[in-house]
Amino acid sequence: MNKDDKRSVLLTGVTRGLGAAMLEKFLSMGHSVAGCGRSKDKIDALSKRYPGAHLRAVDVSDFAAVSQWKTAVLADMGTPDLLLNNAALINENLPLWEVPVDEFAAVIDVNIKGVFHVVKAFTPAMIEAGHGVIVNFSSGWGRSTAADVAPYCATKWAIEGLSAALAQDLPSGISAMAYNPGIIHTEMLESCFGEDAKSFPNPKTWAESQVPYLLSLGAKQNGRPV
Ligand SMILES: NC(=O)c1ccc[n+]([C@@H]2O[C@H](COP(=O)([O-])OP(=O)(O)OC[C@H]3O[C@@H](n4cnc5c(N)ncnc54)[C@H](OP(=O)(O)O)[C@@H]3O)[C@@H](O)[C@H]2O)c1
Repeated sequence: MNKDDKRSVLLTGVTRGLGAAMLEKFLSMGHSVAGCGRSKDKIDALSKRYPGAHLRAVDVSDFAAVSQWKTAVLADMGTPDLLLNNAALINENLPLWEVPVDEFAAVIDVNIKGVFHVVKAFTPAMIEAGHGVIVNFSSGWGRSTAADVAPYCATKWAIEGLSAALAQDLPSGISAMAYNPGIIHTEMLESCFGEDAKSFPNPKTWAESQVPYLLSLGAKQNGRPV
């Protein structure tokens, strides 16, 4: 943590949903944020709106792109104090055997390999700095299951195991945990809940309580599902 308690936050998936709401809230609290998403037009619009943020169009499933982004982030913002692996995809609602092969692969590539790529790129700098917190976004469906979302469930259960094992790899001073954000009205929720998604809180309201909570995570929660 910086002396003035202002953190450097690395956040994937800032172009909509929870990521966009977290970006706004972290910046409003005076923290530095480096963020990414695939949609170049949305990244360009967010860069104009938040000129102080380090935003870039990066696909987390592409390790070469994540590595290049890491070099730019470390030069521009410095080592992240808080790394939030938020970016993810959900499959279109279907029984597992009807899920297209390419769609299954994409969900795995982003939700598991993307998290690995970001951890692989940034953790060495965090270890060198001697401190940091890595939060991997899981889901209620990383701890339970439902029909029609088996690919997504598989990836979020993987994130639970990956995060607990990562916590055992990390040296003292660095923590990692899987985080279930709750149920929030985003495009992802509309994809799986349809019209019912509207009855859940919006991302801005969610971020008001959850950004302070994410900032509070540390050694006490290391390796534990939160
Ligand atoms: N909403 C909920 O109720 C809920 C519940 C449980 C868990 N979660 C978890 O919370 C996180 C955020 O979910 P959300 O509801 O905000 O989802 P969302 O509205 O679909 O937003 C997902 C974000 O991830 C980005 N993204 C997707 N693939 C990417 C890639 N390959 N590289 C970089 N960025 C990528 C998207 O931007 P681009 O399309 O521009 O790349 C977008 O900004 C996810 O991990 C999700 O599993 C959400």
